[in-house]
Amino acid sequence: MAGRPPSNPVKKVPIHLQSSQNRLLIKGGKIVNADGMSDGDIFIEDGSIKEIGRNLIIPGGTRTIDARGKLIIPGGIDPHTHLQLPFMGTKSVDDFYTGTKAAIAGGTTMIIDFVIPQKGESLLEAYHKWRGWAEDQVCCDYSFHVAVTWWSEQVKAEMETLVKEHGVNSFKMFMAYKDTFMVRDNELYEIFEHCKKIGAIAQVHAENGDIIAENAKKIVSAGITGPEGHELSRPEDVEAEATHRACVLASQVNCPLYVVHVMSKSAGNVVAEKRQQGCVVFGEPIAASLATDGTNYWNESWRHAAAHILSPPLRPDPTTPGYLMDLLARDDLQLTATDNCTFTHDQKKMGCNDFRNIPNGVNGLEDRMSLVWEKGVQDGKMDPCRFVAVTSTTAAKIFNLYPKKGVIAAGSDADLVIWDPRKTRTISAKTHHHATDNNIFEGMTCHGIAEYVICNGRVCVDEGQVKVLQGFGNYVAREPYAPFVYDPIKERDARKSSTLKPVQRSGFDGEMVSKAQAG
Ligand code: URP
Ligand code: ZN
Ligand code: ZN
Ligand code: ZN
Repeated sequence: MAGRPPSNPVKKVPIHLQSSQNRLLIKGGKIVNADGMSDGDIFIEDGSIKEIGRNLIIPGGTRTIDARGKLIIPGGIDPHTHLQLPFMGTKSVDDFYTGTKAAIAGGTTMIIDFVIPQKGESLLEAYHKWRGWAEDQVCCDYSFHVAVTWWSEQVKAEMETLVKEHGVNSFKMFMAYKDTFMVRDNELYEIFEHCKKIGAIAQVHAENGDIIAENAKKIVSAGITGPEGHELSRPEDVEAEATHRACVLASQVNCPLYVVHVMSKSAGNVVAEKRQQGCVVFGEPIAASLATDGTNYWNESWRHAAAHILSPPLRPDPTTPGYLMDLLARDDLQLTATDNCTFTHDQKKMGCNDFRNIPNGVNGLEDRMSLVWEKGVQDGKMDPCRFVAVTSTTAAKIFNLYPKKGVIAAGSDADLVIWDPRKTRTISAKTHHHATDNNIFEGMTCHGIAEYVICNGRVCVDEGQVKVLQGFGNYVAREPYAPFVYDPIKERDARKSSTLKPVQRSGFDGEMVSKAQAG
């Protein structure tokens, strides 16, 4: 946990005016994209990739980085973070500075965080508040999803404004957190319908909030007040039921759906089955669900158990992470995130007498890339191209950032990582860049090190040394109707309208009867 440098005084000044770092040549590495690998040198100028090839003619004075024996991958995109989120009576401790610094240290060069308005709060006002929090802090590019925590004509209009004027193309709804963020099925249905109308993707936190509230009361009455009560009150059926319900509701109005934080085998199976049935649904396991499990809630140390509390919870079945990784490897699940929402031990202690008051959230931003490499590629479940797809490219496609982000190609942003797949590191709260004093992956050793991390052409990790610039990141606006998401939706609409025809009948027997006559 290093001290903070002063804010970037030359923030948002075009990069070529900032320093002699405006040109960079990366020589000799193996370039990995989601659709294949190739050899080539990469010439970067003014924040974007200018040319890829051999024997490039490069202006004098250009810095050259030797990448021989290394992979060059698109910078990671984490589409699910909660930095400085006001939540459960406190605020997540990683803010837009420490959170994005940790991201960069691990090879992630863009985040999409969530604006979460209170019930009754203007979505636009909340959006501007979050932009204000992020703007002078972010070390990498960022964007925002917006949560719909209540429903009205005002919310409907503001969603449209967010799409048209503020580059938001994704809205998240909570099926849990009863009385704070949860929306009801009739509202969900209308919100999905509206998302479809404005070209956005709907996201859901899928858990049955009513059942959880009842279960939790019973568990506390039975004398279970520790962290294990958290999982006991929200078992995997409760996640799978809500996942299924969300898919059914979204499918009725043909709205694309994105299930955030898939935590269980059964919820993963629901996403896989619904995709097979033709639903346009995407599933996002997170670093936590892919790399650790819910046996931690039964750990005798309260501190240890509480550190692992998030919703939906990790699952006690220790084969869950491997199973989710299998689903991810074969595209039954599509991409990875972290749900990074960190709290210190002191914050977690708010729930020392009742698990319902333990702030929900864990880390992941710094470690996701290494963990997915270790559990996915190193363990032989996926190749480096699939790794790039699930850590970067698919997020870029779903959220309409592609090909600006998520690919190494001429014209794309120069967001890339020189990745050493042979080197290892051991994860620890003692050495991580997060602001929190715990790390749920403590002691795990992973292959895969981000040796150089380049964000918008700037070397932000240089031979393993983290050299971020506070406020350097830009807000990235996203257009609606992402082709990756909306092309299949359009096909489904076309199919439906061509098959939706009444049966042609010859007529009625006898006279027609009106309702009034019949009654
Ligand atoms: O426990 C979690 N996941 N905390 C962050 C808020 C959310 O539900 O995504
Ligand atoms: Zn505005
Ligand atoms: Zn959630
Ligand atoms: Zn979340």
